Amino acid sequence: MPEEKDNIWAMEHRHSVRRYTEEPLSPAEVEALSLAIARANDASGLALRLVTDEPRAFDSLLAHYGKFQNVRNYVVVAGPKGRDLQELAGYFGEKIVLLATRLGLGSCWVGGTFRRRSVAGQVAPGHKLACVIALGHGAEPGRPHRSKSIEELSNTHGLVMPDWFQHGMQAAALAPTALNQQHFLFTLGRDRQTVTAQSTGGPMSMIDLGIAELHFELASGHAVSGSAPARATGPAAPASRTR
Ligand SMILES: Cc1cc2nc3c(=O)[nH]c(=O)nc-3n(C[C@H](O)[C@H](O)[C@H](O)COP(=O)(O)O)c2cc1C
Repeated sequence: MPEEKDNIWAMEHRHSVRRYTEEPLSPAEVEALSLAIARANDASGLALRLVTDEPRAFDSLLAHYGKFQNVRNYVVVAGPKGRDLQELAGYFGEKIVLLATRLGLGSCWVGGTFRRRSVAGQVAPGHKLACVIALGHGAEPGRPHRSKSIEELSNTHGLVMPDWFQHGMQAAALAPTALNQQHFLFTLGRDRQTVTAQSTGGPMSMIDLGIAELHFELASGHAVSGSAPARATGPAAPASRTR
């Protein structure tokens, strides 16, 4: 993997891709994605799963209405039922999205416009399907989304943002969110060290929150306190900054 294509590069260059070419994933791409998925499952207790060369999940009127074309590969994002499922799904699923971007693949989180019934069989008893991530060789690069300002997405109690917090917020603003709603708020504590994050509501906003938390941690080098990923992996394990 070329060295410059790190996670920061990936966050800046990732856009949702809904149209794909016929080119299948290469064995090396499948191997890299599968390894990252196994690691994410180990760390989180989730049951992410790569499905390749399977066109049915996106072969419906709903998917075409959602402008999806030629989706033949996707990650099933599922895990044990529970209050942390959605946030963990966002955080660990986005790790796979960023890897896909670094590999030169297109991707799109999909919560609504796919055939849930054809994916349900891939979900173990006691587990719940959060959503899927379409991926493959993009027929288009996607484009940057409109974004709220980082001031709207954060609360610093009127204090000047430290540089690391600003980097984290810029990366959080690049995060994909359902309907591009960006319904999350990061708060910098009065100690100017502690960061917490919350959803401000809306469909799938806990998945969005997990995605934004990963972006924040990768770019700032600071962990988000009290998040579901922190609970799952232990408080001393923030995602490290990879520049
Ligand atoms: C949890 C989640 C669910 C999403 N569900 C859908 C979907 O059902 N259909 C769709 O076309 N896009 C879906 N998206 C993609 C968003 O529309 C997209 O991320 C957002 O518009 C921002 O654009 P970007 O990803 O290009 O930055 C979803 C995104 C997320 C994070």
